[in-house]
Amino acid sequence: MTKKTVLHIISSARESESYSKGLSSAIVDKLIRKHDIDAVIERNLTKELPPFLDGNLIGAFYKDPRSVNEKERRLLEYADSVVNDVSNADILVLGTPVHNLGMSALLKAWIDQLVRFGVTYCYDENGVRKGNLNGKKVYLAIASGGKLEYWPGDHEFIASHVSATFNAYVGITEVHTFRVEGTAVPGFQADYQKILENL
Ligand SMILES: Cc1cc2nc3c(=O)[nH]c(=O)nc-3n(C[C@H](O)[C@H](O)[C@H](O)COP(=O)(O)O)c2cc1C
Repeated sequence: MTKKTVLHIISSARESESYSKGLSSAIVDKLIRKHDIDAVIERNLTKELPPFLDGNLIGAFYKDPRSVNEKERRLLEYADSVVNDVSNADILVLGTPVHNLGMSALLKAWIDQLVRFGVTYCYDENGVRKGNLNGKKVYLAIASGGKLEYWPGDHEFIASHVSATFNAYVGITEVHTFRVEGTAVPGFQADYQKILENL
């Protein structure tokens, strides 16, 4: 059986108190117990901040790679390392807090570094978009102070955003979401085993 590599992305700055990190780490542990996992690569985005997209970086993203100059090559280093990490992984475990109904700004910035025309997606001869990094799985671990069931019906943005982006622009169609909810409720205790009983 081929061994698998897991890429674990942490995007909460709350260190050991972080519930999204607790849940994503519990996912990684369970995958290790269930699968033949060869390696776990952990990237804590709070330790090495992804750059935001600016004009120069967007210019470099859309440039023919053969004409990229030294300055642009340096600008692309972080984005290239993200593409490398994802290309080398079979399974991605992404942890995120809910911040103002969305994913953490760090995870969004990391995804913005990953998605690149001509690298993670392209268009075929009929103009149909296709993702290039196929056959991988994403496990998404979301921590929220409140509970989804208390939000108005349409206000689920993170799982839908991550699934749509990985599907359309990366080529990963299998995204599984797990939630630790109500972390702001007094006396809250996380039961990761129960949340992950179907994993
Ligand atoms: C700036 C900020 C914004 C937040 N926005 C929301 C929100 O929109 N909905 C919600 O349910 N919880 C919200 N929370 C609570 C967090 O989602 C909650 O503390 C969660 O446990 C954070 O994940 P972490 O423990 O991995 O850091 C917010 C917290 C902060 C600090």
